[in-house]
Amino acid sequence: MTASGIARSSVVPRLHITIWRPSRYVEPQAPHTRSTRPGAPDRLRWRDATRGSPPVAATTLYNKWRPKRFADVVGQDPIIQTLRNAVLQDKLSHAYLFSGPRGTGKTTTARIFAKALMLGHDADGDPPTDSPDVRDFDNGVHPDFIEMDAASNRRIDDIRELSERIHYVPGRARRKVYLVDEAHEIKREAADAFLKTLEEPPPHAVFVLATTDPGDLKSTIRSRCQRYDFRRVEVKVLVARLRQIAEAEGITIDDDALRLLAREATGSVRDAVNLLDQVWATHGDAISHDAVLDGLGLSSDARAIELAKAALGKDLKAGLAVIAAVQDDAVELGRFNKQVVKHLRHALLHQSGADETLELSEPEGAALK
Ligand SMILES: Nc1ncnc2c1ncn2[C@@H]1O[C@H](COP(=O)(O)OP(=O)(O)O)[C@@H](O)[C@H]1O
Ligand SMILES: [Mg+2]
Repeated sequence: MTASGIARSSVVPRLHITIWRPSRYVEPQAPHTRSTRPGAPDRLRWRDATRGSPPVAATTLYNKWRPKRFADVVGQDPIIQTLRNAVLQDKLSHAYLFSGPRGTGKTTTARIFAKALMLGHDADGDPPTDSPDVRDFDNGVHPDFIEMDAASNRRIDDIRELSERIHYVPGRARRKVYLVDEAHEIKREAADAFLKTLEEPPPHAVFVLATTDPGDLKSTIRSRCQRYDFRRVEVKVLVARLRQIAEAEGITIDDDALRLLAREATGSVRDAVNLLDQVWATHGDAISHDAVLDGLGLSSDARAIELAKAALGKDLKAGLAVIAAVQDDAVELGRFNKQVVKHLRHALLHQSGADETLELSEPEGAALK
């Protein structure tokens, strides 16, 4: 387990933001069933994610700020460029595999790509942003875009149904696009049946598989797909995105505070935006650096640095004295622990010369010296 892993799991964040999710986490959504042809059995649970579905999810900041054009997807430049070219040159593979950590843009990019393939594109390869078809797509009711969550459709019958439906030509769009999320959930017989479909898809169909666990996918399925590995997004790119969102939403917050949020998000744009949403909900339009520190459970206790120093200097006596003092003060040990681990991690990165990735503020940098 990494140092940050220890820090994260050892504390209940004040903001009640779950960043570590169980590996089968599915984002909040309103799954519903729909059929792509009249009279077809509605066994498949089509996922409409948050598109067009009311209250809670629709109003979260990360949904509001889900990119609608390639240009707005941040931190995945090589992938975006390649997909744009594919759209512009109309050179397509039958199946794509988007892999990578949660919240890095797999679903978002898949939807933009699908729209461009189905509904046409401009000179940059971007799909239209306003038309009846776009609205239907965004509302999850376009009949030629089929988004399914493999976690709830992994049975052999579901996959057979998909294989049958795929032969119906698109009703309105140029192509039919199948987005299969959590694709690693398709296992055993269902995976074999799915492989058949992938091997001989009709010319009008394009598959996009998304997964956080590409290693769990059958290798024969993987090798059928053109693969794109989404990366964790760098702190400075996250900060720029948060800055853009904060300005548009009328939130006042300084760069150091945004950097704290971005670092806490460990490369996930969704987590970064969610954290901003949470501090915004708690503190209103003017968010101070201290409010963020406090909200994240990172308020600096000077003794955390002392303990980290003692540990690094192998000074047992000094270390035990700090622990005793902290215990006497009834400090919340989980949070304290988290701070110590943070300082240790920063010190290690500093020693190895890798601290530029931390994007430390000046006072933080000085504390490491
Ligand atoms: N690369 C990105 N650029 C901009 N926003 C992003 C990016 N990745 C994620 N987001 C934000 O996070 C939300 C969830 O992203 P999503 O594409 O569903 O992630 P994934 O499918 O990789 O888990 C989006 O609505 C968007 O607000
Ligand atoms: Mg996703």
